[in-house]
Amino acid sequence: MATRSLSPLDRILSDVQRALDTVAGAPLAQRPNPAGDHAEIVLDEDERRHAAGLMRINHVGEVCAQALYCGQAAVARDGTTREHLLDAAQEETDHLAWCADRLRELDSRPSLLNPIWYAGSYAIGALAGLRGDGWNLGFVVETERQVEAHIDEHLQSLPAADARSRAILQVMKVDEARHADSAEQAGARILPMPVPTLMAAASKLMKSVAYRI
Ligand SMILES: [Fe+2]
Ligand SMILES: [Fe+2]
Repeated sequence: MATRSLSPLDRILSDVQRALDTVAGAPLAQRPNPAGDHAEIVLDEDERRHAAGLMRINHVGEVCAQALYCGQAAVARDGTTREHLLDAAQEETDHLAWCADRLRELDSRPSLLNPIWYAGSYAIGALAGLRGDGWNLGFVVETERQVEAHIDEHLQSLPAADARSRAILQVMKVDEARHADSAEQAGARILPMPVPTLMAAASKLMKSVAYRI
């Protein structure tokens, strides 16, 4: 990929554009939706609501991933790290679009708090990035591993008949594991305690709120 050479103002405008696209736009996936081949089974009301709650959490997770990576990229010192982060954010756009599609199919909607999730995650990403590029990549590894773990929980918890949500989550899980592996190979540091614990606590709070709102 060609190296981007953007002025600081270009970067700010591109960050604002990305934030608006993530929170209010309709992001376009570059790969086909993995649910494509699976028949839509009519779920009962409790199952539908539960599946929608879980897919809303996954959608928020992807909003946060976009914001974290953009916040980190905004302060990354090394051009290669910045490209790595922005490429990762690009891949998360597929996940974002697939989760949004599934929420619509389930007759539901994304979290009303997405602007807040985005702003908070962007700030956390920028703070992590200011500690240096090893930390930046370490943060990617920890985020992706935590997302992979909650996708595993959701695969267990989804209604048995909801093959469309399950197909999306299975592809996302493989992608997240690959994102973590490639950040490790790019020189991630292992984050010291209590950072992983604080990240897990923030993610737990997000999940309990996003399931409903
Ligand atoms: Fe993702
Ligand atoms: Fe990821």
